[in-house]
Formats: sequence, structure tokens, C-alpha cells
Amino acid sequence: MIAATDPNRNPTPRHDATQAESGDATGLGRVLERGAIDVSHGPILYLEDVTVQFDGFRALNKLTLSIDHGELRCVIGPNGAGKTTMMDVITGKTGPRNASVSGRVFLGQSIDLMRLNEPTIAQTGIGRKFQKPTVFEQHAVWENLELAMKADKRWWSSLRARLDADGRNRIEQTLALTALEDEAYRPAGLLSHGQKQRLEIGMLLMQQPQLLLLDEPVAGMTDEETMQLAKLLDGLRGSCSMMVVEHDMEFVAALAGESGKVTVLSEGSVLAEGTLDAVKRDERVIESYLGR
Ligand SMILES: Nc1ncnc2c1ncn2[C@@H]1O[C@H](COP(=O)(O)OP(=O)(O)OP(=O)(O)O)[C@@H](O)[C@H]1O
Ligand SMILES: [Mg+2]
Repeated sequence: MIAATDPNRNPTPRHDATQAESGDATGLGRVLERGAIDVSHGPILYLEDVTVQFDGFRALNKLTLSIDHGELRCVIGPNGAGKTTMMDVITGKTGPRNASVSGRVFLGQSIDLMRLNEPTIAQTGIGRKFQKPTVFEQHAVWENLELAMKADKRWWSSLRARLDADGRNRIEQTLALTALEDEAYRPAGLLSHGQKQRLEIGMLLMQQPQLLLLDEPVAGMTDEETMQLAKLLDGLRGSCSMMVVEHDMEFVAALAGESGKVTVLSEGSVLAEGTLDAVKRDERVIESYLGR
């Protein structure tokens, strides 16, 4: 599917943003104009045969994976399985510049992420949450959300550098979604770890991502904060697609439910994929990850 059917694909390495935006080959120009990703064939994200080597060590090994538009996919797997490396490749943090990379990574039908660099990929509608919260500690929660909105050039240019009623509404909606209404005017540095994590997700949401990548979002959270985050992500279903990497199985169970698809990575490849119940019963998963 997608890129696999194109025999003429040219494995051109990532190039700079200026080139990417001027050429139409990447499909990026159209995305930035319309704010839409072509998901007419189902997947919003498609990886095929992706191999990443660091000094000969294969962190990803012919990884093939696809996420449907609107899906919330949980990814689990042992330490060193390649989960973070996968996110690094999708977002351009790892590329031909700093590793040996091969394979295909597509956003929707037409955006070849392997041809784009990190800042350009950030403009395509992919939001990434790293493990450690990165908020502006001195600024109030409200200002953090406002600054995040201003960082989105597509949005801000149309606002003519002032916060109108529409912008304020969006901030209020995000405060409600992240359960931070009561903290709106507190400096972000005074928030609990769980609140900071929710604020950072709120900041990503201000940029209206099409695809959110979350790497171990509940690490260090209390049980209550963990379940609160599960509720938040559940509420985002329908507004963006998500890929969530986690070790916390209760959190994964809350997100995947009975029918959600879970992917198990091991040694840089997909070891198993299916409902959480099915992968938990898989002998290879028990062997490599869950233990007996
Ligand atoms: N920049 C790098 N240089 C060399 N090796 C790397 C680099 N980045 C990752 N690796 C190696 O690639 C492998 C996969 O690492 P990665 O961080 O993707 O695993 P992970 O599945 O996210 O693990 P964890 O659950 O511990 O976060 C590891 O063996 C790691 O040491
Ligand atoms: Mg990791």
C-alpha cells in the first residue's frame, strides 16, 4: 500500500525546509495550505521496512507499522526495543544525518517524512510529547497555552498578533480538556508533575495536531494522575490520531479497552499486534516482555 506501490520512489535523504517547501514532490506545500493530510486510504502514518543503525547496531529492524486515521494506538515492548527510536525517525530527530536509515515513512498518502527535516515535520501536524514535561515555569498556565498557540504560524498570522475571542475560546476549551481550569493563573512551575504533563499536552493541542506521539506520558505519575491522563486522551478521540508508548499496563488497558489495537515492539520489529488480551496471551510476548 501507499509508498510500497511506487516502484520509482527515490530514496532522497532529508533536505532543508526551504527546499521542501518550494518543491511539491513532498506534498508538504499542499498540507500547509489546506491544513489537511490525505488519509483517503485509511492510514495517517505508515512505516515500511524501516531500519535504523547506530554504528552497525540495529535499533529498528525492518519495522512495518501503520496507524489508521483517528486511531489511538498503544505501543509496548521491552527496554531498548526501539520505541523511542521509532518516534525519532517519524519526527526527523533521527535521519540520514546522524544514523544509517532506510525504509519508508509516510504521513497520510503523500507526505514522505524521510525527505523532510525535523523543523519541517513539526509543521506537518505531528505533535510530540517527550517524557519530561517542558513548560515555561515562570509563566502562568494560561500564558503557556497562549504562547503555544502563537508558535503555530498558520494560526497566528491570521490573528494579526492579537488574541481575539476565538483564541480565548480555544484556550478555555483546552483548560477544560486538561482539567486545569482552576490553575489557569498559577505559574506552571507550581503545578504537580501530572498537571505539568497535562499542560504540555494542552500546549501541543493548541497547535491542532493531526497526529500526537506520546512517549511514556505517565512515567512518574500517581495512579490518580495516570487515570486522569487516560481520560484526557480518551476525550481526544476523533479530534486527532495518537500513538502512545507506555510500560504502565493499567494505563494501556484503560486506553486500549477490549477492542483497541496494541503493538508490541521487540528488537526493532513488530513482535505482535492485536487486542491487549490477545497480545498478552501471545507466547513470544510473554517470553520477551511480560514474563511468566
Ligand atoms: N543515538 C543513539 N546512538 C546509539 N544507540 C542508540 C541511539 N539511540 C538509541 N540507541 C539504542 O537503540 C536501542 C533502542 O533504543 P530506544 O531508546 O529506541 O528503546 P526504547 O524501546 O524506547 O526503550 P525504553 O523502553 O527503555 O525507553 C537501544 O539499544 C539504544 O541503546
Ligand atoms: Mg524509550
